[in-house]
Amino acid sequence: MRVLGIETSCDETAAAIVEDGVRILSNVVSSQIDLHARFGGVVPEVASRAHVERINGCIQEAVDEAGVSWASIDGVAVTNRPGLVGSLLVGVCAAKAYAFVHSKPLVAVHHTLGHIYAAFLSEQPEFPFLALVASGGHSDLVLMREHGRCELLGATRDDAAGEAFDKVARLLGLPHPGGPNIDQVAAACPDEGERFPVADLGDSLDYSFSGLKTAVARRVAELGEQLAPADVGRVAKGLQDAVVRALLANVVRAVRRHGLHRVVLGGGVAANSRLREALMEAGSREGFAPTVPPMSLCTDNAAMVASAGHFALAAGVRDGLDIDVLACAPLPRG
Ligand code: KG4
Ligand code: ZN
Repeated sequence: MRVLGIETSCDETAAAIVEDGVRILSNVVSSQIDLHARFGGVVPEVASRAHVERINGCIQEAVDEAGVSWASIDGVAVTNRPGLVGSLLVGVCAAKAYAFVHSKPLVAVHHTLGHIYAAFLSEQPEFPFLALVASGGHSDLVLMREHGRCELLGATRDDAAGEAFDKVARLLGLPHPGGPNIDQVAAACPDEGERFPVADLGDSLDYSFSGLKTAVARRVAELGEQLAPADVGRVAKGLQDAVVRALLANVVRAVRRHGLHRVVLGGGVAANSRLREALMEAGSREGFAPTVPPMSLCTDNAAMVASAGHFALAAGVRDGLDIDVLACAPLPRG
């Protein structure tokens, strides 16, 4: 079965064709980073307009690159929640139009589940497994029991992990998007990182990153107006260590609590080199196998949406042409 995936929840316009949920035939991503960089963050209205301009071109390119005809595409999967509503609307309208015109079944995909399904494009993780999805909008710990059966074990109570990276990067005068820049600066820093505290939420598997952000802001204010490059390096490294420590502490807790043997990483922050390394180390210490998709599949893309859509369609899920978009859509807690 071949599925066309469409993803426009934030600032990437993306379309992809995936076969049997696991083989990428094409994966087109048109990034808007350059459009938003001068504003220091994603501007929703600018994002939706850019999606409108690019969506048809991306879909056409995905179909051409895959070398398939519309007749051989079996379904259309689209991210409809959560995300920027104006952006989501563009992808959802396009998905409805193509599904209707070509008489294909349509399925709506939750963005977080999309990130989890990136794992199926690199290897086929066995159920049950734990997924950590850390992105600009989410830090979710999800227990995947089987296709279509997931349980949210923990989520952020305030800022997402990627948001912490992005906001601190701005404090340090690093360009948007902050995550990759902090990663780079931290890797190049020969000194010890600054030591920042992470929130202790007791037994909960939730996260909280707003206190960390405040601690970093205080330290930056102490260091003065003009930060020396060495200070930027030490703060960036300290922030990265603190976020990774916090993310992994709950991963280890969840793995122990639920007796799991596999952990899948997803979301833009999964591209972080220290997080990837630390997950491998924790895996060998705790006896779980990590699945870390290639970086291009960790950040927003439509192949992951097509994969999630494939398994939903294969299980008989169908959505109508009346599907809506949602800015906020937490996964179900157990
Ligand atoms: O999943 P994604 O592409 O979009 C959302 O769904 O939000 O994630 C984007 C987030 C941004 O906050 C970005 O700074 C972060 O992922 N990110 C990183 C790295 N690459 C991207 N964070 C830390 N280290 C990285 N290497
Ligand atoms: Zn995302």
